[in-house]
Amino acid sequence: MLPTVSHGDGLHVYDTDGREYLDGCSGAINTNLGHGLTEITSRMHQQLDAISFAYRTQFTSEPLERLSGLLTDLAPGSLGNPLYCNSGSEAIEMALRLTTVFHAQAYRPFKCTVLTEEPSYHGMTAGALGASGHPLRKHNLTPLLANQATVAKVRPRHGEMRADVEQWERAIDEVRAQNLAAVIVEPVGGASSGAVPCDPAVLRRLRELADRDGFLLIADEVMTGLGRTGAWFGCDHAGVVPDVMVLGKGMTAGYAPLSAVLVRDEIAAAFDKPLGSVLFGHTMAGAPLAAAAGLATVEYLKEHDIPARAERSGRYLRALLDGVAARHAVVRDVRGRGLQLALGLHADPDRSPGVAHDLVRAARDNGLLLYPSGVNALTESVMVAPPLNSTEAELEELTVRLDRSLAALTPAPATQVHELAAAAR
Ligand SMILES: Cc1ncc(COP(=O)(O)O)c(C=O)c1O
Repeated sequence: MLPTVSHGDGLHVYDTDGREYLDGCSGAINTNLGHGLTEITSRMHQQLDAISFAYRTQFTSEPLERLSGLLTDLAPGSLGNPLYCNSGSEAIEMALRLTTVFHAQAYRPFKCTVLTEEPSYHGMTAGALGASGHPLRKHNLTPLLANQATVAKVRPRHGEMRADVEQWERAIDEVRAQNLAAVIVEPVGGASSGAVPCDPAVLRRLRELADRDGFLLIADEVMTGLGRTGAWFGCDHAGVVPDVMVLGKGMTAGYAPLSAVLVRDEIAAAFDKPLGSVLFGHTMAGAPLAAAAGLATVEYLKEHDIPARAERSGRYLRALLDGVAARHAVVRDVRGRGLQLALGLHADPDRSPGVAHDLVRAARDNGLLLYPSGVNALTESVMVAPPLNSTEAELEELTVRLDRSLAALTPAPATQVHELAAAAR
């Protein structure tokens, strides 16, 4: 039975029995600024009083226009021309739709294969799930997914968690470059691999091959985008500008449903009509209330230089987690980038997912929220990804509760907060 949520305050979530939980995973790695931030809620209240909904083919709105300008300024290269949706999954569908129409209108219908990674996760709608390398989430859905657009997979070498440059090159050769419509990649893994970063050399090579072979490079930045990895965008770590960038989760930090697809000018210019009118959309997409939440969130991220703060906090938390990992044999590794981190766990191949769920349960009993990740025993993990504005004291408290939760799985002596903090400094 799930607890019934009552309210939230910063990193803390309370249930109706008065229990307090420290949010060590920002909900689903989306409440990136914690709960009850008045800089966001007051702007939403104002918008709600003015007007919450106007249909996207009848009106634009001031917050939406300002948000579009801000995202275009922040995104690298000529990425801009935002198209709005309500969820990461919908925005991935939009990116796939854009890819298909982009090639079809240029008389390249043979360019219809989308190459994605195993493991990866791009969303639960049929197209996005079809393009995901996440067998657990696809279980029993084969009939629904069988007729999705052609998807090819690149797989890592045996014992590795993500594909290297050579594996990608081989997969592209196998698809035959002339048939390749797009490659879709997560700069740092989320639910699938549990925060395993993509090698920057892979992203750089994919950019070269996309230019050479005329396929679109789509960066799924639904989780990584807007500061989570300690840079504005996950691709920034590799200095790569994708053709299409998909944003979601952190764009409104959980205050409203909103996602976006950003498209390079050169790609947008290939369409003879505004992209929104070619690719269609959803009833609530980009409505004023969500736009106000998005604008207030992204302005807050910018004004408080949150990506830089996430980079510093990420280094501190990682050092704390290394200290915890050294005390518990069940922890295989600490991985990730910025504040998109995970503890890899030694899992039982006959019972996977197993230990990750045990740890999530133990953590909840110890007042800590964690997110289970991984698609098999090799990748089984829990994500540790607190809000980007967490304080050092909060990160230390998170670590103490995590240590206690791990001890509930494998007994270890109780930790003093100052021991972990001293080791991390
Ligand atoms: C990388 C990535 N892409 C897409 C999605 C789907 O987003 P949503 O759950 O908002 O539909 C997620 C959600 O976890 C994600 O992590």
